[in-house]
Amino acid sequence: MKNIKLPLYFIVIFFFSHASHAEDISSQSKKAETGLNAWDKIYSVLSHPRCANCHVGEDNIPMWAGEDYDQDRPHGMNINAGESRIGAEAIQCSTCHTDTNNTIPHGAPGAGTIWHLPPVEFAWFGKTSNHICEQIKDKNRNGDRTLEDLVDHMKHDLLVDWGWNPGAGRKTPPITKEQTIEYFETWTAEGAPCPQ
Ligand code: HEC
Ligand code: HEC
Repeated sequence: MKNIKLPLYFIVIFFFSHASHAEDISSQSKKAETGLNAWDKIYSVLSHPRCANCHVGEDNIPMWAGEDYDQDRPHGMNINAGESRIGAEAIQCSTCHTDTNNTIPHGAPGAGTIWHLPPVEFAWFGKTSNHICEQIKDKNRNGDRTLEDLVDHMKHDLLVDWGWNPGAGRKTPPITKEQTIEYFETWTAEGAPCPQ
């Protein structure tokens, strides 16, 4: 009798431990899926010209994009932000980008704060979704911010606000600022997964 019971016991244990393991895996992959979907929406905003045109690399040249441009192109008038990222070496951004927005198409926009490029480590213009995702989580490349700090930046920064109020003739990102913040919160809650 003993000999029969023992294997049965093992089979039962084996079955239950594997069933719950399978459940773990399926709830984990569901979590990752929700997180990755949220990231896709965030990426659609970050990679949009209104957000990417300032987040450029070490050539320090902001980008232009708009309805009358076939594709993104470097800022006209030989503008270069220099290592200062604010144009201090040649002509300051604020010479043309004042703190009020422009209602005339192709006028220089403004945002109620000093117009300048972010540090070069924050560059995401032309980068892949995976690259931006890993970068934005990396405190060495995001201004020493936690994920919560990033959400806070999205909520309160005036240059972020400008992206959704860019003045005449410029399209806004594909989803609203409120939706973007919600997706950021979902992405964070799901462990901030990045696509491959
Ligand atoms: C006029 C240029 C400009 C525009 C346009 C702009 N940014 Fe930025 N962004 C900056 C600057 C400058 C910083 C650095 C500010 C700081 O670290 O406090 C920054 C920092 C950030 C950061 C935090 C650091 C990081 O890179 O991880 C996020 C997130 C961000 N921007 C998102 C956006 C989004 C979203 C938009 C579009 C809705 C946008 N930005 C549009 C200039 C800009
Ligand atoms: C001589 C005037 C002038 C100076 C100086 C200048 N800009 Fe501009 N900028 C403009 C004009 C005009 C536009 C609008 C172009 C258009 O929409 O066709 C513009 C547009 C932009 C845009 C595009 C916004 C968008 O997404 O549509 C960015 C980004 C930008 N400037 C960044 C900068 C930065 C950073 C500096 C300083 C390094 C700077 N600019 C200096 C005149 C200037």
